[in-house]
Amino acid sequence: MSLVITDLTISAEDAVIDTDVSITVNPGELHIVMGPNGAGKSTLANALGGHPNYTVESGSIVLDKTDITFSKPEERAKAGLMLSMQHIPAIEGLTVTNFLRTAYNARFETKVNPAKFYRQLKELCDGVKLPHDVLKRHVGVGFSGGEKKRLEMMQLELFDPSYAILDETDSGLDVDALKLIAAKIQAMRKAGKGVLLITHHIAFLKEMTPDNVYIMASGKIVKEGDISLAETIETEGFESYG
Ligand SMILES: Nc1ncnc2c1ncn2[C@@H]1O[C@H](COP(=O)(O)OP(=O)(O)O)[C@@H](O)[C@H]1O
Ligand SMILES: [Mg+2]
Repeated sequence: MSLVITDLTISAEDAVIDTDVSITVNPGELHIVMGPNGAGKSTLANALGGHPNYTVESGSIVLDKTDITFSKPEERAKAGLMLSMQHIPAIEGLTVTNFLRTAYNARFETKVNPAKFYRQLKELCDGVKLPHDVLKRHVGVGFSGGEKKRLEMMQLELFDPSYAILDETDSGLDVDALKLIAAKIQAMRKAGKGVLLITHHIAFLKEMTPDNVYIMASGKIVKEGDISLAETIETEGFESYG
C-alpha cells in the first residue's frame, strides 16, 4: 500500500513542464516538495489530482496498487486521493454546502441526509474556526485567502483521504491556522495516511520531521534529502539549484 509516482512526465498545451518525477509515499509518511516559483510543483500536484489541463506523457501514478494515471478526478477521490489546490477556483452559483454534499456522495458512494450532513459541516467549520455562513456562500466567491485554506482543511477531515496532496495549503495562514494544519497532518500520519506537501514554510516543517524533502527546479527533482536539506534552503535559497 502506497502512492507510487514513477518517472512521471507532464505536459500542458504544447509545453512539457515536468519530467521524470518519481516519489513514493508510504502510509504514515510526510513528503515535502520545495522549489522556486515556476519549478513545476503545482503542475505535479494538479496532474496527480487529474486536472484536465495537464497530460501525463509517460510514467505512472499508482495508488494502493490501483493505476490512476489516467483516471478522472472523481475516480481518484474515490480511490482515496485528495488534492488541495494552490489556487482554488471560484464557482459562482454553487453553494459550499451543495458542492461538499455532491462531492461527499460521490466519494463515499452514498446519499447523505442533507440536514444531518449540514449539522456535520457546521461542526467541521467549528474545528477549523470558519464561521457557519461560509456554508451558504458560493464556492470560493469573495473568500479571503485564509478562508479558502481553512475550507480545504475542513475537507481533509470530511473526505478522509488515504493520501493528501497539499499544494501550499499552509500559505497565507496565520500562526493559529498553521498549528491546526500541522496537527492535522500529524494526525493523518498517525492514522496511517500519507501526505505530500508543497510548502515554503521551513520552520513549520521542523516540528513535523518529514520522511523526505525534494527540491524541484525547472520541472525536475534535482535533490532529495531530509529536513537538513530544507534547512540549507532556508539559509542558502534555491540559487544553486537553478
Ligand atoms: N497550463 C499551462 N500551460 C502552459 N504552461 C504552464 C501551464 N501551467 C503551468 N505552466 C508553466 O509551467 C511552469 C511551472 O508552473 P507551476 O507548476 O505552476 O510552478 P510552481 O507551482 O512550482 O510555482 C511555469 O513556467 C508555468 O508558467
Ligand atoms: Mg505552485
